[in-house]
Amino acid sequence: MDEQVRPILEKYQYKKEFLISILQDVQAVHYYLPKEVLEQLSQALQIPISKIYSVATFFKAFSLEPRGRHLINVCVGTACHVRGAVRVMEGIEREIGIGPGETDSDLKFSLEAANCLGCCALGPVMVVDGEYHGKLSTAKAVEVLRGYE
Ligand code: FES
Repeated sequence: MDEQVRPILEKYQYKKEFLISILQDVQAVHYYLPKEVLEQLSQALQIPISKIYSVATFFKAFSLEPRGRHLINVCVGTACHVRGAVRVMEGIEREIGIGPGETDSDLKFSLEAANCLGCCALGPVMVVDGEYHGKLSTAKAVEVLRGYE
């Protein structure tokens, strides 16, 4: 068994009713849900693999594809768009070398475009690993990203 998964299962006492929390913890460790880990969970929790996949695909927060250590969500919604979100997104794409929906080859960053992050007055906005950065210029967005290891 994956050595990082056993402590997670122990934390939840191998109880299948904690499947979502277990998947969240697995994703926090691996940044996505590896197929082989899902198979291990299926065996350890006695849950059919199809059920695990249906939960993993239902919640947008889960990813079945490898993801970078840092998840960047750039808002391209209307309010952010009129304040220059497209330029910010283009600057980020140039800086990290990937487009929305992609992960870089070092598995450092994954980039996503969002339609609204719920804080339009702060636009343009991006969220990196859950942390909001508002009133962005391209230069400010790039500076923020350079602070991530
Ligand atoms: S449109 Fe960007 S936060 Fe709402």
